[in-house]
Amino acid sequence: MLMKTIYLDNGATTKVDPKVLEKMSVYYTEKYGNASSLHHKGQEAKMGLEEARESIAKSINAKPSEIIFTSGGSESNNLAIKGVAFSKNNRVHLITSEIEHHSVERTFEELKRQGYETSFIKVDKEGFVDLVQLENEIKENTVLVSIIHGNNEIGTIQDIETIGKICKKKKVLFHIDAVQSFTKVPIDVKKINVDLISLNAHKIHGPKGVGALYVRDGVKLKKLNDGGDQEYRLRAGTENVPGIIGFAEAVKLANNSSNIKHMTKLRNKLIDGLLALEDVRLNGPSIDESKKLFGKDDRRLCNNINISFKYVEGESIGGYMDAKGICSSTGSACSSKSLKPSHVLTAIGLTPEEAHGSIRLSLGKFNTEEEIDLVLEVLPAIIKKLRKISPLIK
Ligand SMILES: Cc1ncc(COP(=O)(O)O)c(C=O)c1O
Repeated sequence: MLMKTIYLDNGATTKVDPKVLEKMSVYYTEKYGNASSLHHKGQEAKMGLEEARESIAKSINAKPSEIIFTSGGSESNNLAIKGVAFSKNNRVHLITSEIEHHSVERTFEELKRQGYETSFIKVDKEGFVDLVQLENEIKENTVLVSIIHGNNEIGTIQDIETIGKICKKKKVLFHIDAVQSFTKVPIDVKKINVDLISLNAHKIHGPKGVGALYVRDGVKLKKLNDGGDQEYRLRAGTENVPGIIGFAEAVKLANNSSNIKHMTKLRNKLIDGLLALEDVRLNGPSIDESKKLFGKDDRRLCNNINISFKYVEGESIGGYMDAKGICSSTGSACSSKSLKPSHVLTAIGLTPEEAHGSIRLSLGKFNTEEEIDLVLEVLPAIIKKLRKISPLIK
């Protein structure tokens, strides 16, 4: 008998919405032209490409000419950060936080190797950036602040409005990695001072390998790859038109408040259910209504749950859950032979043991309440079993 999958790893990637696939397939088999070709097949593809650009731009209140299509979030982050750095000399200074995705963290490490000055801002125990330190770190030669909007591991949603104001006051560019927050937290580039935004499709039920970088009019970037004149001469290479069409459709479908309400309800149920167990802690912002920072908006991504269980290893929990058909992810990253605890979890103050005992459960619009009920039955039983055999309990 085939086991039913309960997919709770939507922070890693999501199932493509069948409606997205339907829109894309036309651009593989019928409107397959190269958008740079002048003949009618090329122009047909170009028209689809530009409509997609317009619709994605509209979703953040930007102009179509401010959207550059890329191969995804990692490339967008590289283009934003290196694009700004390489347009200057290596005497400039760039700032980021301690809880970035590897595509930002390692880009900063690479810039440091190349002689650029870099700073990593600390976060508090819920993962919020220290705004005082941020403001104090901005100096004469600072050119960019790059901050993750919704954290991929612990779900913290940064106060980008305030950070944007600081950057404006200090006259430095502001980039956000909005890969996890896009369509879950509203972004309006006319209301918030942000110059560069990284987006992608595969976290919102769109295809993998497609993303975009919002580049505010007038912001100068050095392109990273040479070749054709595509994407306003900022990103050479034939555009992935079917992927981009799918991206635009995914954005259209995701921009629906009932998805957010649905995921929030499931998230809260799962968090409340797991916090009722012994020796557990929620990593990232609490979901306590009274502690909401930004008025009616949530402080935690509507689809993120990250929990540490004392005396057990996240990898073991993940393995047992997988055996029951439940997909989750852990807070550890396997690097070569050693298990390194997540830099995000250690940045918010977890010990390596606590970090190793954590799992991330991330929801998507296709998850159901029945699935959550089942997880709340299965997971406590797994924890109990693992604790019985845990060498960590003396
Ligand atoms: C916050 C964040 N930024 C960037 C990325 C990279 O995106 P992509 O997989 O499209 O390269 C991810 C993907 O996990 C992410 O969660």
